[in-house]
Amino acid sequence: LRVGFYGFGAISRYIARVVLERGWEITGAVDISPRLIGRDIGFLLGIEKYGVKVTSSPDTLRGSDVVFHATGSWLDRVFDQLVTLARLRVDVVSTCETLAYPYYRYPEIAEKLDREAKSNNVTIVGAGINPGFVLDVLPVVVSASLSSIERVYAVRSLDASKRRKPFQHKVGIGMNPSEYVERLKRRELTGHVGYAESIYLIGRALGVSFTKVEEGQEPLVAEEHIIIGDVEIEKGLVKGIRGYGYGYVDGERIVTLELYAYAGAEEYEEIVVEGSGYTIKWRSTGTPGDIGTASVVVNLAETVHEHEPGLVTVVDLLPFRPRFKKL
Ligand SMILES: NC(=O)c1ccc[n+]([C@@H]2O[C@H](COP(=O)([O-])OP(=O)(O)OC[C@H]3O[C@@H](n4cnc5c(N)ncnc54)[C@H](OP(=O)(O)O)[C@@H]3O)[C@@H](O)[C@H]2O)c1
Repeated sequence: LRVGFYGFGAISRYIARVVLERGWEITGAVDISPRLIGRDIGFLLGIEKYGVKVTSSPDTLRGSDVVFHATGSWLDRVFDQLVTLARLRVDVVSTCETLAYPYYRYPEIAEKLDREAKSNNVTIVGAGINPGFVLDVLPVVVSASLSSIERVYAVRSLDASKRRKPFQHKVGIGMNPSEYVERLKRRELTGHVGYAESIYLIGRALGVSFTKVEEGQEPLVAEEHIIIGDVEIEKGLVKGIRGYGYGYVDGERIVTLELYAYAGAEEYEEIVVEGSGYTIKWRSTGTPGDIGTASVVVNLAETVHEHEPGLVTVVDLLPFRPRFKKL
């Protein structure tokens, strides 16, 4: 494949390494950061010169089979970038969390983007490790071995000290708890974005229209001085977050998602699907989030062009259609 990058920050660089391992060609890399513009991507990846420099001009991405887009979490803020890519007639796999299920927070923007994608004959999909895999795709896949489902529960717990610096920053590591809560409110920091998106992705795959969806998150505070690798957190400062998403039908909670992302957390994912007759419990020893995100989007990129043009969600690409008992 010939692939381009819109945004060449931390996650794009993980993606680029996987792309090069596959033997794919990198056509171009676009970013606005003065720290990156003009620099050879090979040097930024810590390997030899590649012969492609980061530029501010998206036009350099024309002719790519797929562009990986990784600049931001809020669809309203990245909408123009995605339209630019659609008009360059390239398929897009984006790590923008709110694009994973855009119809919840941004229904009008989603419709506009779908029209742009269709009129330019391209496919646009939002994915990543979460949202886009562990708390939505994976529960749907686990549900596929049950004849009918009554309740879905999924939890992801990860050690934030092992994640890239932008991730540690967004989960508030080392900040004063009240300042962190204020910065979350002002959308200067995101925490995790995508609890509701994952809930709606599960609903879409399982054919459920939720009557209510709730989401929230709160900082977790270090109860003692923490030193893990190069991460040091004083007692009383933020060590990470706990967050949740709940999906209800007629007052009954049928989907529960939880995320723990803090320094020192045990790493695992657990998915419990209660079915009619039996329950399946699946548990992992954790999924490294950064290389996991890079792998998910690279593994999608090869097939994304096979799908109908338009805005699609990652669960639309799954072959399974598990169903709830009462629906
Ligand atoms: N779905 C998932 O599972 C998942 C997983 C990982 C990451 N993500 C999301 O993916 C996004 C990227 O993550 P990251 O860690 O790579 O962040 P990052 O290191 O901050 O990289 C983003 C890059 O995009 C650049 N940028 C910002 N606005 C731009 C624009 N208008 N045009 C061109 N470039 C622009 C930034 O430049 P400046 O630094 O100058 O702003 C930066 O170099 C984040 O929103 C993150 O939350 C999602």
